[in-house]
Amino acid sequence: MPHKPFKAVIPAAGLGTRFLPATKAMPKEMLPVVDKPAIQYVVEEAAEAGISDILIIIGRNKNNIANHFDSVPELEEKLRQKGDDERLSRVQASTELADIHMVRQGEPKGLGHAVLRAAHHVGDHPFAVLLGDDLIDERDPLLTKMLDEFDKRGGVTVIALMEVDPAHIHMYGAAAVEPTEDPDVVKVTGLVEKPKAEEAPSNLAVIGRYVLPPSVFGILEHTEPGRGGEIQLTDALQELAVTEGEGVYGVVFRGRRYDTGDRLDYIKAIVQLAADREDLGPDLRPWLKEFSAQL
Ligand code: G1P
Repeated sequence: MPHKPFKAVIPAAGLGTRFLPATKAMPKEMLPVVDKPAIQYVVEEAAEAGISDILIIIGRNKNNIANHFDSVPELEEKLRQKGDDERLSRVQASTELADIHMVRQGEPKGLGHAVLRAAHHVGDHPFAVLLGDDLIDERDPLLTKMLDEFDKRGGVTVIALMEVDPAHIHMYGAAAVEPTEDPDVVKVTGLVEKPKAEEAPSNLAVIGRYVLPPSVFGILEHTEPGRGGEIQLTDALQELAVTEGEGVYGVVFRGRRYDTGDRLDYIKAIVQLAADREDLGPDLRPWLKEFSAQL
């Protein structure tokens, strides 16, 4: 695994207001997607890309996340006694995935502020950021390609971009880009956080995967609150894009992405993932056909 030294940062301190009251006492990252909390998919993705040190930035109700990645000896012993090896290994999987660390954000001042909280743990090294709302299908690896690009382009910032319906660009960071020799990679010349459709530089949306140099911390320290009064990671990336000796590239993702940050998309994500699963798909797919015929 060539990318071993990278650490990953997963911001999980958002308030999850779109899912209230489900998120009143539970972080949205713990909402189940089929039978695993959303954040486990993200940790699995980082582990799959060779990253074994993961820092989760937590907010209130943090205990659920910490507990999920800890072992539960009583439960494991019960399953062992019952001879339920399959469930036992599923319970243990979340503990064995990676070395998980936690730091509190303190105040929800925005994604840029959350990432800055990782400065001490990450130190003077490049690192990856994975946002829990965007689930990337394990069959369409994105982070590995981004880490490869990072190496290939000499350590500049690499972000993930995806074409979206122009009517939806106001929900994302949007990128102004120039082509490169690789049809799946663009040079990012500018970034704007959640622009109005008519002001967006393109319909290429920033999706939640970033490979960042440590210089981003220095920029975040002086980044003023932007859109929504929050310190925006996109604004720091805009500065990197125009700074001499830095630069930002975008990997254009054309694979399967599930947005679990929105209620409707969350429901769609569960149905899509369950329909593809070997254990649930064979029963779910015919039922879905029958059900949709009644609509
Ligand atoms: C964040 C980023 C935004 C990005 C999005 C991807 O916004 O600020 O640039 O496009 O994640 O999911 P959020 O969805 O947290 O408001």
